[in-house]
Amino acid sequence: MLEADAISVRLAGREVLRDVSLTLVPGEFTVIVGPNGAGKTTLLRALVGDLPPSAGGVRFDGTRLDDWHGRDLARRRAVLSQSQHLAFPFTVHEVIALGLRAGNTGAKNAGAGLIAGVLARVDLVGYEARFYQQLSGGEQQRVQLARVLCQLGPPVLDGAANWLYLDEPTASLDIRHQFQILDLARQHVTAGGGGLAILHDLNLAADYADRLIVVSGGRLAADGPPADVLTGALIEDVFGVDASRVLRA
Ligand SMILES: Nc1ncnc2c1ncn2[C@@H]1O[C@H](COP(=O)(O)OP(=O)(O)OP(=O)(O)O)[C@@H](O)[C@H]1O
Ligand SMILES: [Mg+2]
Repeated sequence: MLEADAISVRLAGREVLRDVSLTLVPGEFTVIVGPNGAGKTTLLRALVGDLPPSAGGVRFDGTRLDDWHGRDLARRRAVLSQSQHLAFPFTVHEVIALGLRAGNTGAKNAGAGLIAGVLARVDLVGYEARFYQQLSGGEQQRVQLARVLCQLGPPVLDGAANWLYLDEPTASLDIRHQFQILDLARQHVTAGGGGLAILHDLNLAADYADRLIVVSGGRLAADGPPADVLTGALIEDVFGVDASRVLRA
């Protein structure tokens, strides 16, 4: 279980997230939506312990994030960040192996088979020896997902849920791969894991989320089942567009 208690985050002297409280439970796929600059990535980074809140705190399975050892946390959750910068000419195999080292699946001789397995799950069979920097944007994004899946391990291990956090995992993907990746996340959560994703496509968000959180201007604007949250009034208020242009009938 992940609990944020009245967290605020200041960046460069500006409060970009204000007084956010929420509790996330395994088995429920939560999707965050909101305009550019609303504070979605900042919220996710605070929830995973990547950004210290200026006020409030975050507990993961009852223990403050500050009190977790990094190594233990890396075994329990995997994070796909919004931007990925790789300074060196890594192969696909090497990029994914970073996830193996960080996570709970790092048995020494399990490597090659495991990497081939996650590459198959993201539809990149045979890509091991390719250079990451020579892949297309969507292929790179799927390699990063494979890395995260490698780190993640099973949805539940020794009775504890493992958590998957995805910041715009479908941003560069064609529609088939968008479905494929969100199906993977959904399966993880349905099997008892924890899952949180940031998406911009409101229809995809409504299709996949059990719970939809809307962030606007650094605050929670709404939180609940997609059908309750995505009202015409909210879409017009938060996104400034006519709802009839956004949602499928
Ligand atoms: N390192 C930083 N230093 C200063 N300001 C930052 C920093 N990172 C983000 N911000 C600001 O904080 C606000 C929230 O940024 P955040 O990345 O959380 O937005 P977002 O909702 O994820 O947007 P997007 O949809 O574009 O990814 C923005 O105004 C942004 O300019
Ligand atoms: Mg963002």
